[in-house]
Order: sequence, then C-alpha cells, then structure tokens
Amino acid sequence: MEKILVIDFGGQYCQLIARRIRSEHVFAEIRAFNKISCEDIVKEQYKGIVFTGGPNSVYDPKSPHFDPQIMDLGIPILGICYGHQLLSYMGGGKIASAESGSEYGKTTVFFDQSPLFKDVPVESICWMSHTDYVKDIPQGFKLIAHSAKCPCAAIACDEKKLYGVQFHPEVTHTDFGQQMLRNFIIDICGCRQDWNMDDYAKTSIEKYKAELAGKKVLLALSGGVDSSVAAVLLNQAIGSNLTCVFVDHGLLRKDEGDYVEKTFKGQFGINLIRVNAQDRFLEKLRGVTDPERKRKIIGEEFIRVFEEEAEKLGKMDVLAQGTIYPDVVESGNGNSAVIKSHHNVGGLPEDIGFEAIVEPLRYLFKDEVREIGEKLGLPRQLVWRQPFPGPGIAVRITGEITEEKIKLVQEADAIFREEMEKAHCDIMSNQYFAVLADVKSVGVMGDFRTFGYTAVLRAVTTDDFMTAEWTRLPFEVLEAASSRITNEVKGITRVVYDITSKPPATVEWL
Ligand code: XMP
Repeated sequence: MEKILVIDFGGQYCQLIARRIRSEHVFAEIRAFNKISCEDIVKEQYKGIVFTGGPNSVYDPKSPHFDPQIMDLGIPILGICYGHQLLSYMGGGKIASAESGSEYGKTTVFFDQSPLFKDVPVESICWMSHTDYVKDIPQGFKLIAHSAKCPCAAIACDEKKLYGVQFHPEVTHTDFGQQMLRNFIIDICGCRQDWNMDDYAKTSIEKYKAELAGKKVLLALSGGVDSSVAAVLLNQAIGSNLTCVFVDHGLLRKDEGDYVEKTFKGQFGINLIRVNAQDRFLEKLRGVTDPERKRKIIGEEFIRVFEEEAEKLGKMDVLAQGTIYPDVVESGNGNSAVIKSHHNVGGLPEDIGFEAIVEPLRYLFKDEVREIGEKLGLPRQLVWRQPFPGPGIAVRITGEITEEKIKLVQEADAIFREEMEKAHCDIMSNQYFAVLADVKSVGVMGDFRTFGYTAVLRAVTTDDFMTAEWTRLPFEVLEAASSRITNEVKGITRVVYDITSKPPATVEWL
C-alpha cells in the first residue's frame, strides 16, 4: 500500500489533512515532527510528505523544525501555512511578519501555471490564516500564486517536486483545495489509489485469523460505534474465541442495554456477557453532585466490574480495544495542542495480565470505521448512532443521581428523539438529547397543582464537536416534544430548550 506522510507541526487541521488525502483512496499517516527522522521516512517508503500548519513563527526558538535533509530525499513535499514557511526557511528563504497585519478568512488568490494547480481556475477563493509570510523565496523555487495582501501565496521547485502554499487547501472554504491535494498526491507523488475499506476489512480478518489462532480474546463492548465494529470484525476472524463483556451501568438510554444484547448475541451470535451492574453504580454515586466526581466514580467502577468479569473467565490471552486513529494521534503520536480530557469509560487496566493488546481500528478515522461497520452488516441505527458519552446520562442529570431521575431523563430523551425522527429533524442536528435539571417548579394537571423537575432539550449542529451551534429546530418539533413529555412523563412539569452554543457552553451539561 502506498502512503503519504503528514508531519504534524502543531496545526489544528492536521487530522483533516490526513482525512482529505484518504478520501482520494490513498493512505495517509500522521507523525509528530519530533517522532520521525529522515532515516525512518526513507525506510517507510512514503510516496509524498505534507508539512502541516502550526501556530509558531519559524524564527521563534521554540518553534518546531525538521532536518533540512528531508528536502533532498527525492520525495515530493507539500508545505501548508507554517509548513510552507518552514520549507521556505529551510531552503534559505526569508520569512517576515506582515506589516499590514494578519490575512484571515476567505481570500481571492491568483494562480500561475503549475502541476499543483491543474484544473484550478486562474483565480479562486482560498482560506488564509497567517501573520508571517514568505518575503524572499528560496533559491531554485519560483512564485506560483499571490493574493492582494500576500505576495507569496505559493511556491514551487518542480525539479525536486517541492511545493508550499500559504493558504489551507484542506478546508472546504478553499474552493479548489481538494483538487490541489489530488494533484499533489496523484500526479506529483504518483500514488496508486489503493486504500479502501473493503480490502481493509478482508485483510484484517485474514490477519487476525492467522495471528490470533487458538488465542482467547476479551473485548469490552460499550455499544458505541468503535467497540461494536471491532467486535464484529474480530468475530468474523476468530468466532467463539472472542468474548465480549458489556457492562451495563444503568446509565444508558432507554432500552439500550437490551438492544445491544439483542444485536450482538442474537444477530451476530457473538459470545457476549452482559453484566447488570446498575445497583453497584447507583450505590457508588449516591449523594454525589460534583460532575468530575461522577465521571471518576463511573470510570473506576467500570474497571472494577470489568476486572472481576475477566477473572471469572479464567485465562484470556489477548485484550482487544476499539481504539481509533484520532485516539492514537491525540494521545501523543501527533503534536496538535488539543488533547481530550475526557474519554470513554473503557479506559481499561493494562495489568490484568494479557500477553498482547490488539486494536483492529487503530489506523481508521470515524467515517472509515462506519464504512466498515456497514460492510460487515451492522444495523444503520448502530453505525450512525450519535455520540454518547462513556459516563452516559450521569453527565445529563444535575445534582444527585437517583433511580427516579434516571428514569425521567430516559423517558424524556426517548420522546425527544422520537419526535425529532418523526419530523425528519434528526438530519439537522449532530447530537440531540434531554437533560434533567435539578430544578423543580409548579405546574397544573387538570384541577391539581403539580411540582416536578425540568427537562432541558439540547440539539447541536457541529462538524467536530470542538465547537457547536445550537440547532434552530422548528417550533413544531419543540412543541410536540414538550407536550408529550409533560403529559407522558409523570414527574416532569416543565420543558425548556437550550440555546447556548459551544463555546461558551459545552455540548453536555456536566
Ligand atoms: P462536550 O460536552 O465536551 O462534548 O462539549 C463534546 C462531545 O464529547 C462527548 N463527550 C464524551 N464522550 N466520554 C465520551 O466518550 C465522555 O466523558 C464525554 N463527555 C462528553 C459529548 O457527548 C459530545 O459529543
């Protein structure tokens, strides 16, 4: 398989670059600038290299640099934003800070003839986000694009196949950005387009069939997309040698535990152990109101339950996990500043005594995992499931968690989801759910005064969940949900809609 190396210099779009390359059916791998050497690059036989953007200035002593020998390896390079400045600097060019300030946002860029700009019109819109710019281009390079404010929007050394662009071709705001990436990886690097999920699934199944022959494998199944796809894939490879443990902490959505059991045991015939640990979790959470404490307790208890179950099973050789590529990159293989502070409750102990850990989805982005899930026959409902936090509805109940509150929020949430789907509004929003606020208010029901909890409906529209807009839902859907919740869920007297975006709020309430 031919592959492109994306060297991460701290840019926020690092993963996006790799995804855009993979959408051309070429495998792209991300490595932090300080975790790979020229020697490794040659050994790995990369067909091309992309330098990402980054927040630094090349003259800053703390800024990330690379061995300039990389320019003489005979491997094509495309530098983006900071990567473009770094490439210019390494080639002997000069970088300066723009006197007229930053160039930010959609910008018209004028292009000259270049293999990088094949099928790109002479002028088009690109996304700019920079203060520094290349003032003197390095020797052996020529200018191939400019904008009104930026004299050097792109450079090229065709002979060595080295290119730099000041703008961001990877974001959709750059009209012909994907075309430019395609020109680079297909025409300039000459990559075969041989990365596809059909092959990946088949090859992985064959690989694990051989590697795991005769081994007992244990997997923690949460019912989320990643662990579900990992389970089905491994089941096809090793069948009954795979055991999945599904810890039901009682904080799932309405009927979700039964659905997971039915799907994996019933439909796929997977060896599944469902641990009904609701009471244990509830007991540990009694009286706890602090959100972080709740998360911590759930995480710890999850590990305890899992360990106990593993012990009951006797010797298991291998632990399987549904780790996906962004987890790998964010946990230190890449270099981007953002590191998730929360993670799934499946953060499992490493000392249970397994001889190995397998992670069949380690190289895949979420959309690729979904594609494989569909190919392996997982129901759409599961593959396209909206994100659900590991600690479950514990982060959707303010104040103390009680059995009553769990039931109320599960019911309200199920009604809201039903109404969203009925009105086809589910496609407007990337995540929608109900929260139970620990606020009681007075209501009337017939001739009686009632006093009950408040359900908060939340729906957000987002690309990456790092930022999110509250979804502008039609009043009719909100009204239908509100009316049904107050009528059907005894104990909730009031329904409100959350109109806060992220930032300043987060998606979840806790
Ligand atoms: P926030 O609330 O941080 O959520 O804006 C962003 C996205 O992450 C999900 N989320 C979690 N997922 N474990 C998870 O696996 C967690 O502890 C967790 N907390 C939040 C949230 O549902 C949203 O999609």
